[in-house]
Amino acid sequence: MKNIERIKKSISGCRRCDLSSERKNTVPGEGSKDAEIVIIGEAPGKKEDETGRPFVGRAGKVLTEALEKAGIKRSEVFITNVVKCRPPTNRDPKKDEIKKCRGYLESQLETIDPNIIVPLGNSALKTLLDEERISEKRGKTFEKDGRKYMPTYHPAATIYNRKLRPKLVKDLKKIGEESK
Ligand code: URA
Repeated sequence: MKNIERIKKSISGCRRCDLSSERKNTVPGEGSKDAEIVIIGEAPGKKEDETGRPFVGRAGKVLTEALEKAGIKRSEVFITNVVKCRPPTNRDPKKDEIKKCRGYLESQLETIDPNIIVPLGNSALKTLLDEERISEKRGKTFEKDGRKYMPTYHPAATIYNRKLRPKLVKDLKKIGEESK
């Protein structure tokens, strides 16, 4: 079995935190195991929990369309979340839940070894880079522990504030360039 499949399998049986008791499905992430770009959201929502796939609800539609506009195929990147199970009522994941889930993301990043990692929104920005204020950090390059990052807006934020949508596309274009 390929490494990425092995990680998926271990996530599927995970009982490290209480999120496991309320989930319908784990949402390990999907995409190319050879991806040059790994995109990381916060946590699965209702639709993701129901299907076991990341970013398939409203925010997912925005993300898929923004990727297309930026000239990036959804199938050529790898998309996942900081936590792999849905927090009840879509509350924010707790620090402790993030900590217990972190190893899975780390293994995914080690295995895929992308050229660029894309934290979506404030929550992923905080978890991955210990930075705040996505509106200031978006579209900028960060280096940490030998890895390159470029954060951008969470697609859900662009549903509430439509003006952010072209900025999301602009950042993704830049990310496409940086990933080569
Ligand atoms: N929002 C996220 O952060 N992740 C998903 O998978 C869906 C919505």
